[in-house]
Amino acid sequence: MTDHLNEIEQINLLLAEETHLELIFKKLATLYPGSIAFSTSFSEEDQVILHFIASSTADIETFTLDTGRLFPETYSTWSRSLEKYKRVIKSYSPNTTAIETFVEENGPNSFYESVDLRKQCCHIRKVEPLRRALFGKKVWITGIRASHSPDRSHMPMVEWDETHQVIKIHPLLQWGTEELKSFIKKEEIPYNALHDKGFVSIGCAPCTRAIQSGEDFRAGRWWWENKENKECGLHVHA
Ligand code: ADX
Ligand code: SF4
Repeated sequence: MTDHLNEIEQINLLLAEETHLELIFKKLATLYPGSIAFSTSFSEEDQVILHFIASSTADIETFTLDTGRLFPETYSTWSRSLEKYKRVIKSYSPNTTAIETFVEENGPNSFYESVDLRKQCCHIRKVEPLRRALFGKKVWITGIRASHSPDRSHMPMVEWDETHQVIKIHPLLQWGTEELKSFIKKEEIPYNALHDKGFVSIGCAPCTRAIQSGEDFRAGRWWWENKENKECGLHVHA
């Protein structure tokens, strides 16, 4: 554990000294050669991170968890990102036997029936593939921002992830929504067209809806469930 604390301190120092994300990614890649993974859901945050990783040309592996239930607009953002950035985006699909069995036994839309079935679906389509994606990595970069939810507002920018045994970094943690949107516009970064139709936080198609003005950032995710259930298990906190 002391080792992780020292490493986290070292990364915090780097983030305090260097503000340009391109240089931060370059330095991180030098500190952890071949051991950094960036997870993208093609959200606005992830697109900004991808933009900086691409311009840094740093050795950082980008991956997505292709649940098989994403929106066509998300797949389109993925394609446009490949065209623009010419970076490999690794794709992790659910384990074939696990998802076939789950769908056969429970039906294709059973996630609406109970929290338990919803969590099983998230486990097969996201949580288990994430484990594979992070296997052997030392650092995991995400697009989490503090303003996503009260839970995320307390997160440190650099933290130890006990579940995956990696250091987790949220480089855009303190970015505001307006800052993010104007950067995307200025740099002409491809983004998910659903953002222009009232969608804010976007996950799988059957589990995401647009929100009304005044609703929480994550109100459109698993909207039929109680607030406290609204995590899929990718980002677990002790
Ligand atoms: S979730 O836990 O509710 O699904 P959220 O959509 O807020 O997560 O996204 C936060 C971060 O988790 C993203 O910036 C990304 O790093 C990672 N993430 C979420 N969904 C995926 C996905 N399908 N593939 C890869 N990374 C993802
Ligand atoms: Fe399944 Fe919905 Fe979770 Fe996607 S968000 S993995 S469809 S329950």
